Amino acid sequence: MGRKRVLSGMRPTGSMHLGNLLGAVENWKRLQEQYESFFFIADWHALTTNYAETKGLRQSKADMLVDLLASGLDPDKCTIFAQSALLEVAELFVYFSMITPIPWLERNPTYKEQMENITDKDLTNYGFLGYPVLQAADILAYKADMVPVGVDQLPHLELTREIARRFNNFYKPVFPEPEALLTEMPKLPGMDGRKMSKSYGNAIYVSDSPDEMRKKIKVIVTDPARIKRTDPGNPELCTAFVFHSIYTPEADIPELEKACKDASIGCVDCKKRLADYMLGQLEPIYAKRQELLGRPDYMGDVLAAGEAKAREVAQATMAEVRDAIGI
Ligand code: TRP
Repeated sequence: MGRKRVLSGMRPTGSMHLGNLLGAVENWKRLQEQYESFFFIADWHALTTNYAETKGLRQSKADMLVDLLASGLDPDKCTIFAQSALLEVAELFVYFSMITPIPWLERNPTYKEQMENITDKDLTNYGFLGYPVLQAADILAYKADMVPVGVDQLPHLELTREIARRFNNFYKPVFPEPEALLTEMPKLPGMDGRKMSKSYGNAIYVSDSPDEMRKKIKVIVTDPARIKRTDPGNPELCTAFVFHSIYTPEADIPELEKACKDASIGCVDCKKRLADYMLGQLEPIYAKRQELLGRPDYMGDVLAAGEAKAREVAQATMAEVRDAIGI
């Protein structure tokens, strides 16, 4: 009885780029058709690293909501809300923090890696160490069955299961052990061929106008050995081809590859074709985005409805949790 429940969150770190769209949102769109789906804007988690710069946070959350809705999350099919609207999760985080051994957190690979790599911020705060405990509270407050995440999040899912088990052992069996739903996602490079990332300045954003998108597509790097128009190219060394493999109909690919290899098409024309296909998919998102920006009340209503639904589930869980602990 009942559909399985899926839950996932995304930190509002600024505009959504095509890598985020392909890596997470496209997947969420498929899941909303099949499962009872909860998706939230993880604003508390944004604070774990950005606690000192909160000026843009509200705007980032608003932007993320517009981007999610414009890209096709449907509030009639899934529940969308802001993490911080559910104080039940904060309460659960308190209980989990009592039963989570610090060594579990200190040996978390994501924690160790970020401690080493993020050098422009002081990450010796307690909340950053406790990041996975908060994530466990997110997931378990709604008793999610499945959590779609990228590989980098697998250690957090494992910790969630360990915390659930420990709680169930100490008190009463309240929590199911959620499964990670790992979906293979095409890796989208940025215009310069490195991983698409806001911090590299190589990203194409869902909020870029069609004109901006065309400009960006024009500068996607191609085979560096193909200098003159008459030089034959190698699609395998071409970043624009990675984009083709995602956005261009499969039937066109062999012909384009051949045309590149025998220099019958130039990079400019090849990228023009790419731009047409990309815009075919992205222009409707941009248009929907513009439409939504003119309807702030609607977006407030979406969040309020999502929160109400999430709260119903979280409150039921918390009643069980308090009873199990005896508090
Ligand atoms: N940690 C996740 C990320 O960085 C975001 C997140 C927060 C999340 N809470 C979650 C994902 C709960 C899944 C479930 O991408």
